Amino acid sequence: MIKVAPSILSADFANMGRDVKRLAGWGADVVHFDVMDGSFVPAITFGAAMCRAVRPYTELPLDVHLMVEHPETQIEAFQEAGANYLTIHVEADRHAHRTLQKIRAAGMKAGIALNPATPVCMVEAALEVCDLVLVMSVNPGAGGQKFIYGVLEKIERLAQLASVHGYTYEIEVDGGINAETAALAVQAGATMLVSGSSLFKAKDPAVLVGQMHALDKVKEK
Ligand code: DX5
Ligand code: ZN
Repeated sequence: MIKVAPSILSADFANMGRDVKRLAGWGADVVHFDVMDGSFVPAITFGAAMCRAVRPYTELPLDVHLMVEHPETQIEAFQEAGANYLTIHVEADRHAHRTLQKIRAAGMKAGIALNPATPVCMVEAALEVCDLVLVMSVNPGAGGQKFIYGVLEKIERLAQLASVHGYTYEIEVDGGINAETAALAVQAGATMLVSGSSLFKAKDPAVLVGQMHALDKVKEK
């Protein structure tokens, strides 16, 4: 099953509870939560306090994408705030394997993210402790950017490694996802689609979510 993860980076920050509440009605599977610290990426968004604040507004899992330095310092705060997935960037953590283990020990699903310039071999030795691998298809830091087609090969490689080694991690693609790029990503092996601007700007977001879910069947053919 393909999971659709709307990114609340494109929501109305002044009405975050209201916007998070709407996502289940769109048919979304998880809520993608972009944390930026002004250091790993220039922008600053929100942190664990926002996660705690929106938690009562949805029963969907919260999929936290940490674009922060020293992500290991955030584990406890996000666990207490009700996060379900916690994803760190391999470029931000010299001890990614240990941090992933700590995330799992805290009861959350552990994810590792790769920037567009980072090859799959940088995370290969940590895949055994990953529940999710997030392939950035834009450079992190902002919504509304164009999809980088070169990352499709990395998604294929991650799918191949999963089948060779029997890994069960989800493969999430993040950035520039619309109906067309979603199809390419799923064809390559992506199982979770993050979409910010395309979904939030859609006339009927539920229709676009439905189209993304249906890509599963296209792949089976
Ligand atoms: C970018 C974020 C993405 C972003 C996606 O740094 O990680 O989650 O919100 O937004 P769109 O879909 O607009 O590219
Ligand atoms: Zn993200």
